[in-house]
Amino acid sequence: MKSIFSLSLLSGLAAAVDFQWSHDGKNYFASEIDRIDKEDDALGLSTHIGEGGLGYFKVGHVDWPQFCRSIKTDDYEPGAYVVASLPGQLVIAKAYQLMEDPAQAFMTGILGDCEDSYKAFPGGAVPVAPVVGDGPLAGLRFAAKDLFHVKGVRTSAGSKSHYLAYPPQNHTSGIVLKNIEAGAQLVGKTKTTAFALTTTHNGWEVDYHDPFNVRGDGYLTTAGSSSGSGAAVTAYDWIDFAIGSDTGGSVRGPATQGGLYGYRPSQGYYDLEDVVVCVLSLDTPGFFTRSPELFTKLFSVWSKDTELERDVDSFTMPTKMLHRTDIVELADEDAQKMLDVFFKKVEDHFNMTSVTIDLDELWMENAVNQSYIDYFDTVYLDLNSLESWDLNGEPLTRAFGEMTDGAAPPVDPSVNLTWTNGQNETIRSRYDEAIKRGQQWRDFYSEHVNPANPDTCSDSIIAYTYYTDVPANRQDLVPFDFTGGDVTGGFWNTLPQSYGGAPEIIVPFGQVQYFSSFTRRTEYRPITASFSAARGCDAVLFKMVDGLAEAGIIGEVLTGRLAYPL
Ligand SMILES: *[C@@H]1O[C@H](CO)[C@@H](O)[C@H](O)[C@H]1NC(C)=O
Ligand SMILES: *[C@@H]1O[C@H](CO)[C@@H](O)[C@H](O)[C@H]1NC(C)=O
Ligand SMILES: *[C@@H]1O[C@H](CO)[C@@H](O)[C@H](O)[C@H]1NC(C)=O
Ligand SMILES: *[C@@H]1O[C@H](CO)[C@@H](O)[C@H](O)[C@H]1NC(C)=O
Ligand SMILES: *[C@@H]1O[C@H](CO)[C@@H](O)[C@H](O)[C@H]1NC(C)=O
Repeated sequence: MKSIFSLSLLSGLAAAVDFQWSHDGKNYFASEIDRIDKEDDALGLSTHIGEGGLGYFKVGHVDWPQFCRSIKTDDYEPGAYVVASLPGQLVIAKAYQLMEDPAQAFMTGILGDCEDSYKAFPGGAVPVAPVVGDGPLAGLRFAAKDLFHVKGVRTSAGSKSHYLAYPPQNHTSGIVLKNIEAGAQLVGKTKTTAFALTTTHNGWEVDYHDPFNVRGDGYLTTAGSSSGSGAAVTAYDWIDFAIGSDTGGSVRGPATQGGLYGYRPSQGYYDLEDVVVCVLSLDTPGFFTRSPELFTKLFSVWSKDTELERDVDSFTMPTKMLHRTDIVELADEDAQKMLDVFFKKVEDHFNMTSVTIDLDELWMENAVNQSYIDYFDTVYLDLNSLESWDLNGEPLTRAFGEMTDGAAPPVDPSVNLTWTNGQNETIRSRYDEAIKRGQQWRDFYSEHVNPANPDTCSDSIIAYTYYTDVPANRQDLVPFDFTGGDVTGGFWNTLPQSYGGAPEIIVPFGQVQYFSSFTRRTEYRPITASFSAARGCDAVLFKMVDGLAEAGIIGEVLTGRLAYPL
């Protein structure tokens, strides 16, 4: 065993000390939490100090081999600790294992500081403590998209200008806290596309590059905007779940690309205080897991004491599964067949009838006699441009200007264009109409597409897939028109649920082979389905996942290249 003291231990006796060392090929780090006089060593900690001047001990159940000596005390919370000897004093430091992040999913690792405050861990690695604790999420580790504020840590929102211009945050976002209070351990903040705009577009970014999706050849896109949260759960078994957010598909995209369980909640039910805004009327927090059991457990923690909490026995499953006919089938017949077989299994399991709907026909018959594709052409852009400028761009421009004596904040081209649009009077003047149209869709959706039902909560389950025939690569440039056009124009396929305020989940069920021009061999990428329920009926979707997992129709996915064993 070899111990390496950091120099600060010798030089900065007054300041808190950190240690870094390696053991059995693993890297560890410890950060001072307490210092006692040697005369007051009631726990006999100095007797643990061995070769190299460090001693290792644990409090509570910890299964890290190096920390085998157990000490019974209420002075320190359960965990792994290091004790070091100074002249006349003992330093007690909390120990972490340093995890590397080859997928580049993280903005920063996070350490507990004092009380309810955190600090960023410099240096690229992610420090993880042993899994201990109480509560329904005890023993689980998670990360949060760097759009959610964490007390003591700066928020980047995917933008270096934002990161630099604002001090460390003084509140932790409520939804992040909810997981911590349930016993889960927050280990880091994950990458997001800048201000959660559009999707990934490696090569356009001024600041932080996209994470790697470890599935297949390792060069598929993670999709965005919750790119790091999806990438982390896809890559690392030391992360159990991650928090993202979904406005126009930002959980559903990364869950689809990673082959993960992903949850976009009904809009407006979960706390969005202390989160950087994308579009207020569409934003929701959400989460990713590999395990269907954890997926439903997390929902019960999140929904507790909200209107989404429901007794699962208080409703029966919907009797209809809706399939849209206004979309094209997959060109890959094998993939389409896998999807059809999966949907059939789900319908059979719950005795659901398969029903088809044409969303556009329904819209034109019941709402506005114009294809929704045209009617909503600029709605997302109008909402996003004005809100992103007013709530993010304008205040940042002021703060950054004050800090730099008048410089504009450098931002990604897509952000720059969005903020330019957000100051354009023509676009701003369409905002009220855009809000009205969004509400119009929400009403249409809950009256004519998926209404509430007294027995089944949600009248139906809407089945869909965001899987695409052609694999999207990480380095593909998504072109957009710099001359005043589109960043987020049009009506894309995740928006019916977004405007509808409806919940939607992504469920992985298989993998499809493809030929990679990078590795020049056959690789596999996950295929997923999506299921959506009526607004407020999120519990129906989780009851469904529960039933499918229990029946063995779905199961846990792996980390790494393959979501399922071959
Ligand atoms: C928290 O931060 C905000 C924004 O930086 C600031 O306006 C507010 O005064 C701070 N509150 C406290 C209690 O420090
Ligand atoms: C399945 O549903 C049909 C009506 O939709 C009903 O007649 C039948 O009894 C149900 N079967 C089971 C096993 O629940
Ligand atoms: C809808 O518009 C089409 C032509 O655009 C027209 O033929 C039709 O009568 C209209 N339907 C209604 C219900 O207004
Ligand atoms: C950002 O947009 C402004 C217009 O609002 C434009 O003048 C400027 O050149 C753009 N910056 C970059 C780097 O594209
Ligand atoms: C404002 O936006 C409108 C609509 O996209 C566009 O036609 C116009 O050229 C823009 N104005 C400026 C000054 O860029």
